[in-house]
Amino acid sequence: MIDDKKVLYSGMQATGNLTLGNYLGALKNWLTLNEEYECFWGVMDLHSLTVRQVPADFRKKARNLLTLYIAAGLDPVKNCIYFQSHVPAHAELSWLLSCFTYVGELNRMTQYKEKAAKHADNVNAGLFTYPVLMAADILLYQADFVPVGKDQKQHLEITRDIAERFNNIYGDVFTIPEPYIGKEEEGAKIMSLQDPEKKMSKSDENVNGSIFLMDDRDTIVRKFKRAVTDSDAEVRYGEDKPGVSNLLTIYGSCTNKSIQEAEKEFDGVGYGDFKMAVAEAVISVLGPLQEEFARLQKEKSFIDGIIKENDEKAAYFANKTLRKVKKKLGLTEKPR
Ligand code: TRP
Repeated sequence: MIDDKKVLYSGMQATGNLTLGNYLGALKNWLTLNEEYECFWGVMDLHSLTVRQVPADFRKKARNLLTLYIAAGLDPVKNCIYFQSHVPAHAELSWLLSCFTYVGELNRMTQYKEKAAKHADNVNAGLFTYPVLMAADILLYQADFVPVGKDQKQHLEITRDIAERFNNIYGDVFTIPEPYIGKEEEGAKIMSLQDPEKKMSKSDENVNGSIFLMDDRDTIVRKFKRAVTDSDAEVRYGEDKPGVSNLLTIYGSCTNKSIQEAEKEFDGVGYGDFKMAVAEAVISVLGPLQEEFARLQKEKSFIDGIIKENDEKAAYFANKTLRKVKKKLGLTEKPR
């Protein structure tokens, strides 16, 4: 609890270009959470280092992600938006927690197994201990809730296990975090435009499957024109129609209409016109977001100020927990 509010913690890795799926499925649903919760949103740049990064690119991407959070509408005064690497407590707690994490449990992490198979030439120890750093992120802020997608549920589970294990030995040090399930489920799940059985992903090899937040108008129109549908011509939501259903979900989410309303609107409309309408709906959301992003990118000292303030705020809460943990563990205190 911070000032009578429960704490909510989440973040995104600072790599890859965010997609419409990240926006409609996550970011958009975060905007009003600060009314009810004390919110922390990290730019998880330390996690990104498990994969080799090009330094100049990486620096830009991390800052762009922070700027994008703000451009999308996360209020940087009411939310703590900060860089993970600016708060050394993350790396420190991660070490301490790694001594309470079993190799066997890390070995069972699905994401580790998948990534190790995909990057067989660079199965580094960071990839293996990734979930411990994530546990440190969450536990440092005594988070009550963590909004995470399906792919991160297992990491939240291990976070809870580590926290409970620690608490069992040393008393109530950590709040046990729970997954945050939003009011309307988890936000829209957006699928690939090319393979609607698969989630839209920033790392998809087929770039036509994903709409990136920075795609320009022509690119968006082109991608929707090429989007996979099916051979009948009925705009209807259904399991047998994954492509059309996905387009309806996107349309509904961008216009804040229900699927039923959207279906009605496109009753009798051909796929070509339907796709153009979806593209326009997406452009009407991404256009203003891109303008705001471009504007903020130029406001260097404004963004710097936000970074400084929020780094400090994050460090204040993180250090409080870290001090407590060190004391419990019996690490000697610095003489004053
Ligand atoms: N692993 C998360 C992802 O890739 C990012 C992340 C790192 C995170 N630390 C976190 C998410 C703490 C929530 C809470 O999506």
